[in-house]
Amino acid sequence: MKRIEKKALARRGIDGLAAYVPGKPVEEAIREYGLKEMIRLASNENPLGTSPKALEAMKQALDDAYLYPEGSSTELRRKVAATFGIEADMVIFGNGADNILLMIAQAFIDEDDEVIVGDPTFSVYETVTRIMGGRVVKVPLRDFTYDLSAIVRKITPQTKLIFVCNPNNPTGSLVTEKEVAQFMDQVPAHCVVVFDEAYAEFVQERNYPQTIRYIHHQKNVLMVRTLSKIFGLAGVRIGYALGPQKLINVLCKVAEPFPVNRVAQAGGLAALDDGEFVKRVLEVNEEGKHYLYEQFSQLGMSYVPSHTNFVFVHLGMDGKLAFQKLWEKGIVIRPGDIWNLPEFSRITIGTAEQNEKLVKALAMIKKENAS
Ligand SMILES: Cc1ncc(COP(=O)(O)O)c(C=O)c1O
Repeated sequence: MKRIEKKALARRGIDGLAAYVPGKPVEEAIREYGLKEMIRLASNENPLGTSPKALEAMKQALDDAYLYPEGSSTELRRKVAATFGIEADMVIFGNGADNILLMIAQAFIDEDDEVIVGDPTFSVYETVTRIMGGRVVKVPLRDFTYDLSAIVRKITPQTKLIFVCNPNNPTGSLVTEKEVAQFMDQVPAHCVVVFDEAYAEFVQERNYPQTIRYIHHQKNVLMVRTLSKIFGLAGVRIGYALGPQKLINVLCKVAEPFPVNRVAQAGGLAALDDGEFVKRVLEVNEEGKHYLYEQFSQLGMSYVPSHTNFVFVHLGMDGKLAFQKLWEKGIVIRPGDIWNLPEFSRITIGTAEQNEKLVKALAMIKKENAS
């Protein structure tokens, strides 16, 4: 009798991929440790909340919740296009930048294509690549920063995508205009470079690359942005990509019919006009960042200078232990074991009050740990 080969049901690329494990429910800790609240410094959310203009617009949009949203976020695309001096068909919106990253993988990665990423960096690049059966090529960071020269050396005829997280999550470092220009000169035409600029609005550095120039020049470049961070819209999910028409057209083919819901579109449109909120967020972030730098130094903890709303800090103790102790005190941070840097943690910059509570708790934990 002919033997029937047993075949896995899931696609090959998905074999061995672990499902996303959500963080412990905050409510559990609040109950268990009798806390008033949990200070959330683990996900780089906006400590000032949501743009008030966006909030108002979203409340109004709820009245029309029974209607499908406009499918291609036309008004938003026009608005963003005008800001960057490009055409509206060079912009695509999605259900958060995560959704855009998945669309990029769906649109460009064939089985066994190679995809180059930094290490450590944002984990979604690896996930979406593996879903599509692509092969992830990890290039270690140098001095906690994307090493673009080393990435160029890893390019092969099989390389399809290169993800450059700039500034990089989790380290907060960036690559400069000059470094990117040298890199772009060496990237062959069969590769698409994706600049993930989720934290661009926080960058104060003058040498931050203007990646839009490559899009103007029709290079194979996509720039990914989100409204989750500086505008405080993480909960409604809205992000976008810019690129030459030839690339955006391909992304449109894999987009869902209604990727951005009605409430998020209304919120996004209003948020993009809320310069006052952005200014306040930046002030609080800069002040908080310098306060944390100073306090970390006093605690004997080194850190990577950050261009974002978080700091990657060397706690000098087991990050998971620090996580647990902070958790019990009502503060949640992201321990570094997931990036194979167990003594590090990524800590979101909070409000002045939150930062002070964090520093106090860290000082206490450090003392306990030493005794
Ligand atoms: C580098 C980077 N890219 C993309 C995202 C996803 O953003 P969104 O909330 O729009 O899905 C994040 C979120 O933390 C991020 O850090």
